[in-house]
Amino acid sequence: MAKRKPKTVDKLRIVDIGHKGMSIAKDADGQVYLLKGGVPGDVVTATIRRKKKGMPFGDVAEITTPSPDRVQAVCQHFEDCGGCKWQDLSYTRQTELKERQVHDAIQRIAKITEYDARPVMACEQAYGYRNKLEFTFSPKRWLTEHEVQSGAEFPDRRALGFHMAGAFDKILPITECHHMPSVHNDIRNRCLYLAKELNISFYDVKSHIGILRNLMIRYTTLEEIMVVLIISADIPEVLDRLLKPLIQEFPQVTSWQYIVNDKLNDSLHGLQAKEYFGESHIREKLGNKEYLISARSFFQTNSRQAEKLYTQVRDYAELTGSEVVYDLYCGTGSIGIFLADACAKMVGIEEIPEAILDARQNAKLNQLVHCHFEVGDVQQVVNEAFVRKHGTPDVLITDPPRAGMHADVVDFIKHIGAKRIVYVSCNPATMARDLALMSDRYRLISCTPVDMFPQTSHVEAVCQLEHIQ
Ligand SMILES: C[S@@+](CC[C@H](N)C(=O)[O-])C[C@H]1O[C@@H](n2cnc3c(N)ncnc32)[C@H](O)[C@@H]1O
Repeated sequence: MAKRKPKTVDKLRIVDIGHKGMSIAKDADGQVYLLKGGVPGDVVTATIRRKKKGMPFGDVAEITTPSPDRVQAVCQHFEDCGGCKWQDLSYTRQTELKERQVHDAIQRIAKITEYDARPVMACEQAYGYRNKLEFTFSPKRWLTEHEVQSGAEFPDRRALGFHMAGAFDKILPITECHHMPSVHNDIRNRCLYLAKELNISFYDVKSHIGILRNLMIRYTTLEEIMVVLIISADIPEVLDRLLKPLIQEFPQVTSWQYIVNDKLNDSLHGLQAKEYFGESHIREKLGNKEYLISARSFFQTNSRQAEKLYTQVRDYAELTGSEVVYDLYCGTGSIGIFLADACAKMVGIEEIPEAILDARQNAKLNQLVHCHFEVGDVQQVVNEAFVRKHGTPDVLITDPPRAGMHADVVDFIKHIGAKRIVYVSCNPATMARDLALMSDRYRLISCTPVDMFPQTSHVEAVCQLEHIQ
């Protein structure tokens, strides 16, 4: 079948953002377009390639009138990286859009209008807020369109950088990233320099040949730093040659670890980190609670905002000290631990066994003997027997993955009938769907959007629901 020729359409005004940060544009007749690129307020010319969900879909080809909300992006990789698509949009506008995205989803999808729709909790640090970054080595880095067109030669294409959006085999070399305090740039750049100097091979994801695979850097607000080198084979000589000089140069790094990944893909699932030098964990503090973070632990990516998010969860939970609380999809138990001082019993449920080990360790670290953590799929584990064992919850916290909760889980939650639910979500659309499913038993009282990820279109939200008597 012949491919449809792309069509050029001009004078499209970007009016909003949609799913995955796509731009929503309109022409003079009100026809809606879905576009990649641009920011709200831009007037653009677009190349339309096909229809998506019945709407013309394409790319911004030219910005004819820039949005008044545009600002200069700070990062030299902004055009190519795609990691933070909104760097060229003012932070004030970003937060307005996020706030609207959450409340629009509740009003449009859940059809709930009577509730306390709170303003977004903005992030004080619009940059440097991430506590974890992962880079990938490649023997043959991706060349940007601009580099190809320049006609320049690139004889050495070894690189350490980020995956291009959606491409497992295309690595964009990164020399600066503004998402973490700048010491991480020095560590990454020096690691690349030494790896090249020492002629250690870079892993090729197509041939599966080479040693160096990934570099993970974790950072806490207590200024503890962990560096994890991921290699394809356990070769002590390679580790010594690369890590020993780095340890000398970066004494501020408190934990040096490595992981041997001899699988065909980069996933670290099921792999153990090994200590090379320094501490086995780094420590983080949220509120009055301490958390140990290991190389493989899940931890909220933005610690300062996580503290605000959890404080909001605590406010919405309205605990008095006598309650049984369930923390569904608890990860490493960080919400439950944060709230534990204010309840009689906290029960966390999470499907990843390593996360539950961390949760138990963190509860012990904070001397919280009334916190219990169970491994398993919420849909299977949280049943009548579970409720008999742990007691009926007075307050239920749920923080499901992007897909939201399974309909059976929603049904069982309604059946348990906790007095109050605090719903934490990273996807307003699935959250709104679940709020609608619960609306015959639970009334939405209040919702607060929280910006955990400045410079991206992602937004988190916390909702307080009360049982209808
Ligand atoms: C959004 S995270 C919540 C993390 C945690 N509340 C925190 O603040 O750090 C969702 C968690 O749900 C877990 N998960 C996903 N599906 C699950 C399921 N069906 N049953 C139990 N846990 C699940 C994931 O492993 C992940 O840790």
